[in-house]
Amino acid sequence: MKLSVFHTPEEVPSEGSPDCAIAIDVLRATSTIAAALYAGAEAIQVFSNVDELIRVSEHWPAEKRLRAGERGGGKVEGCDLGNSPLDHTAERSQGRRLFMSTTNGTRCLERIRDVPTVITGALTTRQAVVDFLLKQQPETVWIVGSGWEGSYSLEDTVCAGAIIHGVIVATGQTFKDLAGNDAAIASVSLYLQWQDQLLDLLHYASHGQRLLRLDNFEDLKYCSQLDTLDIVPIQQEQGVLRLA
Ligand code: MLT
Repeated sequence: MKLSVFHTPEEVPSEGSPDCAIAIDVLRATSTIAAALYAGAEAIQVFSNVDELIRVSEHWPAEKRLRAGERGGGKVEGCDLGNSPLDHTAERSQGRRLFMSTTNGTRCLERIRDVPTVITGALTTRQAVVDFLLKQQPETVWIVGSGWEGSYSLEDTVCAGAIIHGVIVATGQTFKDLAGNDAAIASVSLYLQWQDQLLDLLHYASHGQRLLRLDNFEDLKYCSQLDTLDIVPIQQEQGVLRLA
């Protein structure tokens, strides 16, 4: 298995395709996708455009849908929810489809949607993602951070490093066997430096600071937890994710 890390959707090579791609948006889209599926959501359908989200979700029974829209960290007017993983309880989300559009996370998923296997990863689901990779044994894996409007995000890279470190620990393999690019090695160094202070790192991260200014302290706390959910969201039809 060769794992490569791309910090943003813009860095993803335009030529070639891996066997498996992992979208990461720790703050907060992929943490929220996992939380919603864990709470019993029927599926997550992602859109880069909010108008398109509203148009498509109109064809779905109102009591069976939730519309989640986020821009700049805030809730989009006209949607039921913003992008907080804490919104998803069994009472609210069970059996409903989450129609979702966020600033960067859903754009990241769109960029990799043609890859044969697309999953999402977060700190909360890190070990489940590692177990999925060990079971499926894809030859090539691209781990793609969502970043923020084209630039690097600490929290996505530390999660990429946590996943690669998990594969190293489980297999005993070295970077020589596993690293598909330099960014894969650098991401593990970031994780090893911060593994016991993930919440602190999220507080230093620029998007973490943006969310704190919007009073989302509890979201940062939630998203910084490692290995709390034993699930893997997987794309089952284009733009639609369910439990693997
Ligand atoms: C995004 O897609 O950029 C994020 O998930 C933003 C957020 O924190 O809601």
